[in-house]
Amino acid sequence: MKKFVVGNFKMNTTPSQFSSYLDEFLPRIKDCKTNIIFCLPATHFHVASLRLSATNIKFGAQNISSEKCGACTGEISNEMVKDCGADYTLIGHSETRRKFKETPESINQKIIRALEVNLKVILCIGETKYERTTKKTKLSLKRQLDTALKGLYENELRNIMIAYEPIWAIGTGKTPTPKEIEDTVKDIKDIITDNFTVRAAEKMNVLYGGSITESNCSQFSKIKGVSGLLVGGACLNAKSFANICK
Ligand code: PGA
Repeated sequence: MKKFVVGNFKMNTTPSQFSSYLDEFLPRIKDCKTNIIFCLPATHFHVASLRLSATNIKFGAQNISSEKCGACTGEISNEMVKDCGADYTLIGHSETRRKFKETPESINQKIIRALEVNLKVILCIGETKYERTTKKTKLSLKRQLDTALKGLYENELRNIMIAYEPIWAIGTGKTPTPKEIEDTVKDIKDIITDNFTVRAAEKMNVLYGGSITESNCSQFSKIKGVSGLLVGGACLNAKSFANICK
């Protein structure tokens, strides 16, 4: 099965710098079969829609509002993102959870908003270091998933993938072992089975994210049950990211 590689630009580069980045990136991944997705600042959407429409690469937002429209200064709605040509949105990244005070309920609302306009969701979940060391990882992920997916029908899950990103692994250079990731992905699939069906769990794409680099990516992408990678820092270098995608 084709793997996914998602590049999360966070708040990095200007639109013109992103355009120069694509000058270097696109020729390098010409024959690459990976499903590549850029999650970009909204300021970069016009460059992305112009430059990526003739390729197989998709792009998406890093967040959307839980509201449809109206008095939400500084926010961007589901329809606005979709109308710019985006196919995806990240939801519940640990940085948006923390900085924008997202709640489990607002994350659920954002997922519903995304699905309303056919935006595909990359739902980020992960445990803290404390939860990992006190063996509460599964419980923490269960709480996050139970609320995030509340009220959804099983057929809506096909437009959702889960990015397992331990909070302590994001931007730290630390990662779980491949065995820990394999076990956690199994836990995530078990939670989906409990909330929906075995079939739903089998079909759910689960990505790993957190301190992925060009040199460690292949050991993570080969882990049983892992459908791809979510890359932060290492996607900002066009050559490195192209190698990760390949
Ligand atoms: P990182 O970020 O690869 O820089 O650890 C991952 C993420 O935040 O999605």
